[in-house]
Amino acid sequence: MKKYSVPEISEGVYWVGVKDWNRTMFDALIPLPQGTTYNAYLVKGKEKTVLIDTVNPGFEKELGEKIGQVIDLADLDYIVMNHAEPDHAGTIPYIIKVSKEASLITTEKGAKMAKIYYNVPEKRIKTVKDGDIIELGGKTLKFIEAPWLHWPETMFTYLVDNKILFSCDFFGSHTAFGLYDEDVEELIPLAKRYFGEIMMPFKNMGKKALEKVKELEIEIIAPSHGPVHKNPERILEAYRTWTAGETREKVIIVYVSMWNSTQAMIKTMVETLLSEGIEVSLYNLPTADIGDIARDLVDSRAIVLGTPTVLAGMHPLAIYASYLVKALRPPLKYGAVLSSYGWGGGAPRQALEILGPTKIEVVGTLEINGPPSADDHQKVIEIGKQLSNKIKEMGNAADRTVKRF
Ligand SMILES: Cc1cc2nc3c(=O)[nH]c(=O)nc-3n(C[C@H](O)[C@H](O)[C@H](O)COP(=O)(O)O)c2cc1C
Ligand SMILES: [Fe+2]
Ligand SMILES: [Fe+2]
Repeated sequence: MKKYSVPEISEGVYWVGVKDWNRTMFDALIPLPQGTTYNAYLVKGKEKTVLIDTVNPGFEKELGEKIGQVIDLADLDYIVMNHAEPDHAGTIPYIIKVSKEASLITTEKGAKMAKIYYNVPEKRIKTVKDGDIIELGGKTLKFIEAPWLHWPETMFTYLVDNKILFSCDFFGSHTAFGLYDEDVEELIPLAKRYFGEIMMPFKNMGKKALEKVKELEIEIIAPSHGPVHKNPERILEAYRTWTAGETREKVIIVYVSMWNSTQAMIKTMVETLLSEGIEVSLYNLPTADIGDIARDLVDSRAIVLGTPTVLAGMHPLAIYASYLVKALRPPLKYGAVLSSYGWGGGAPRQALEILGPTKIEVVGTLEINGPPSADDHQKVIEIGKQLSNKIKEMGNAADRTVKRF
């Protein structure tokens, strides 16, 4: 038996990636409940061999040995860098060194980054433009510029003969489990969580990229994180929905409460929304996984933010959550803020400051002193009903209550 499993995912195409089972965080921000993968692929033509993307720093030897099970690494002809981020490009210096001759194929912007991040010498870089091809002998690679998925330099690589789209971060998911989509039961929730974290701020660019690849015959989508899609239509359909910003009759509620006053209002809000037939996703911020929040932001139509006043502003966790909501650019249409204070207040003002520049229309704000009275609960119910009406009106008018992905 050879040391590593190097599956041939299609004729002459080998998975030489790495499973990072133990990684718990990404970008020092997002928890990874199932670790992640850095997928790299070796494409062997009759004359030339190409490595598509590399892996995270720290796995140089493993990648090298996996390639070595298929070819002599010194004979590698090209390395395609679809994306310059270190989780895919971080071992380029090692491959450049050991392969001796291999040149790096990337976009013009990628070339600049390869020099800055990885010290790749100019003479080892071959810059490609949209539609350029290279022949490997019986196999042709075509390059498709797909910027901002997820950095400005990104591109896709299409293997014409095997009908494989190597899409790097796009269509990915953070999980070390399974090689193919069919092996991962919760694939769509994982892919959606990943989309929310990584792709949602760039959904317009994603839409353009989907248009671009529409004409291609695709049998396999091979992303750089998570399983290889043997059934590409499933993930394509999900991405069409997510990049279009299609929302459900759904509210995401994120809140924090120190002494339960805000929590009591949130409870009334939940009951109101549920009795109006609205779907609710509820997150108590001190223990919430922000990856789950990102996932539910992908198709929620409204948000309710609950926070007490702390030092004349929002609770720090609510500041963090509001900032993320703004930065991730979810397709939220409506919002409401519920808050309790002890002596001076100020949390809703800060919430509106942060969310003001977004497209979220704030339907109601309630700032109360201490625990909610019966009258306060009534006010929460009214805000909940207003929110429900807005959400439902939109559903009826535009028929935008989308299938669950
Ligand atoms: C650390 C801390 C800081 C606070 N800062 C303020 C403040 O600056 N202004 C204010 O009006 N209330 C302040 N409060 C009081 C809370 O806002 C008040 O008790 C509120 O009802 C708590 O809501 P909760 O039960 O949802 O946590 C503070 C409370 C704590 C524990
Ligand atoms: Fe990336
Ligand atoms: Fe990545």
